[in-house]
Amino acid sequence: EGELCLSRSLVNSSDKIIRKAGSSIFQHSVEGWKINSSLVLEIRKNILRFLDAERDVSVVKSSFKPGDVIHYVLDRRRTLNISQDLHSLLPEVSPMKNRRFKTCAVVGNSGILLDSECGKEIDSHNFVIRCNLAPVVEFAADVGTKSDFITMNPSVVQRAFGGFRNESDREKFVRRLSMLNDSVLWIPAFMVKGGEKHVEWVNALILKNKLKVRTAYPSLRLIHAVRGYWLTNKVPIKRPSTGLLMYTLATRFCDEIHLYGFWPFPKDLNGKAVKYHYYDDLKYRYFSNASPHRMPLEFKTLNVLHNRGALKLTTGKCV
Ligand code: CTP
Repeated sequence: EGELCLSRSLVNSSDKIIRKAGSSIFQHSVEGWKINSSLVLEIRKNILRFLDAERDVSVVKSSFKPGDVIHYVLDRRRTLNISQDLHSLLPEVSPMKNRRFKTCAVVGNSGILLDSECGKEIDSHNFVIRCNLAPVVEFAADVGTKSDFITMNPSVVQRAFGGFRNESDREKFVRRLSMLNDSVLWIPAFMVKGGEKHVEWVNALILKNKLKVRTAYPSLRLIHAVRGYWLTNKVPIKRPSTGLLMYTLATRFCDEIHLYGFWPFPKDLNGKAVKYHYYDDLKYRYFSNASPHRMPLEFKTLNVLHNRGALKLTTGKCV
């Protein structure tokens, strides 16, 4: 019960199958799609056995004291000191406590969004989740602007804000965060060593500029719990991508989840090139073993869930 019904052989050969561009198993129709509310409830219940998104979405102030030393979640040999700034930005209670929504959008960053004209539809949802501080204003017609919850890997500081090397990078960042008002800014700060300086700089800028954004830092158990849930459902994910993490968390808060911008393939079903990100020129090797993610396998799973009415996946035009 509640299994995703992906047969073992299908999972094992999925990467190969996906290589066949235009393979019909990736086709999904949005016409006639209907929510399967009992399946939604069953999935929520099953995920709750592994994690409670209300709690695991963020550690809270009482979890730590300044000066505490913790082990990185994916690199247990290395440690991080909980700084005064970090501690002061931990929420008192979960920023998602008692929050429930009829419909939510989880917006991935694939170039499939370009020319989709999905902006209005995305913004019409009660709660909009976005990933990695993706820019929206210049792409509003295709991606919308509403951002109630937005993730930010520490690497974004380097990738999109010049490592805060000069004042204009820092200003650009502060402007971006000011646009978020009191949305949740979700920073996975405890995953691996490497981004701690970036997290500290981000924290310092938020405090210095008195930004209203509500910071959240995922619990130390979240990623293992999410991975555990998918593994028990025969989806062997090395490390869930941010997009899959967000869908998994959203099942707790949202009755109807709509996904946009999920398309981890270099071409669309008509053979037309698709950018990895809608907003930059990052190249990504979708099938590389070096990547920590298995996005094509994740996509296949989400597609199965779409066809069963558990979520709605949009990869085409919205009008
Ligand atoms: N995504 C997708 N197809 C793409 C790009 C992204 O399906 N071509 C989804 C993935 O679920 C991804 C999410 O959109 O996690 C956000 O994209 P991005 O910011 O590019 O994530 P990455 O930084 O590549 O990966 P992560 O944050 O998951 O480590």
